[in-house]
Amino acid sequence: MKTIFLIGFMGAGKTTVGQELALRMKRKFVDTDKEIIKQVRKEIAEIFAEEGEESFRLLETQLLKKMTPHLNAVVATGGGIILREENRLWMKENGFVFFLDTNPEEIKKRLEFDESRPLLKGDKEKNIKEMMAKRHSFYESTSHYVIDTTGKSPKMVADEIENCL
Ligand code: S3P
Repeated sequence: MKTIFLIGFMGAGKTTVGQELALRMKRKFVDTDKEIIKQVRKEIAEIFAEEGEESFRLLETQLLKKMTPHLNAVVATGGGIILREENRLWMKENGFVFFLDTNPEEIKKRLEFDESRPLLKGDKEKNIKEMMAKRHSFYESTSHYVIDTTGKSPKMVADEIENCL
């Protein structure tokens, strides 16, 4: 079966839901951020600070293209994976893509004390709102299914995804 890609904004629950889903479906679980950290032996914030966002995006694309169906994986992607057109096209063609949709207020609550995401530095609330507004249509157009995660536990979201497959 095709690779299952979970896309959505930072803090949408892609990793937690992905782990649950992979366990249930007896699939390999891949978190693109964690793979990149392992590969370059640096935290995401360090990569952004030392090598720049473009270099991170390149690593992301290279990794994404390795997520072929024979891997039998559930892949939790970084929130910015949809920024590159080639990533959007690749996921849509090679996988089942689920957009975990979450409202900005919920994201703000979840990431209030998070310091690991370089793109949210500064005015977090403003950054979340602006980035979401820019990205929402990309998340929608890249996905085969949109799952509204508002008020739902990771298990409930995983149930919904399983029902779509
Ligand atoms: C990013 C999201 C992060 C990580 C990096 C950039 C983004 O992943 O890839 O900080 O541009 O939205 P999560 O969505 O897992 O937080």
